Amino acid sequence: MEEIVRGSLFVARAAPGDASACGSGADIAGYICFWCVAGEVQILNIAVPKHLRRKGIARKLLDFAICTGREKKAGVVTLEVRQSNTAARRLYESLGFRITGERPGYYGAQSGESAILMELDIP
Ligand SMILES: CC(C)(COP(=O)(O)OP(=O)(O)OC[C@H]1O[C@@H](n2cnc3c(N)ncnc32)[C@H](O)[C@@H]1OP(=O)(O)O)[C@@H](O)C(=O)NCCC(=O)NCCS
Repeated sequence: MEEIVRGSLFVARAAPGDASACGSGADIAGYICFWCVAGEVQILNIAVPKHLRRKGIARKLLDFAICTGREKKAGVVTLEVRQSNTAARRLYESLGFRITGERPGYYGAQSGESAILMELDIP
């Protein structure tokens, strides 16, 4: 996987000729958007195309954000995730994130869905 860093947007690109990326019409294997502010890494978004999921790409993207935070002396990583987003919640839990709170109705009055707040200490 080739990696490009541009500010707080980190894009994972499939290596040329990577069979797993063929047929997608693009070589983007995933991205993560985050920023480091006031001793905290805030994860804004992360996504991996459907055909490349469960290959450890998101975990690598998050590892990158955590390492960047460590370099910048941040002490914690924070994020918000939709209550029903099982895949993302399992991903964060697998990395050691813990639930620190809930924002009821965060995703709109119609869905009434909560945002779950999660946090990971950076050792
Ligand atoms: C959430 C998302 C980024 C995960 O990407 P991914 O590259 O498939 O994740 P990984 O392969 O790194 O998975 C790491 C671990 O997370 C957990 N996990 C990931 N997807 C899962 C799923 N669908 N169901 C259960 N656990 C899952 C597993 O523990 C997995 O480890 P394992 O495969 O060894 O069991 C991807 O599903 C996605 O792009 N979803 C749509 C966008 C989104 O919801 N973003 C999150 C916004 S908060």
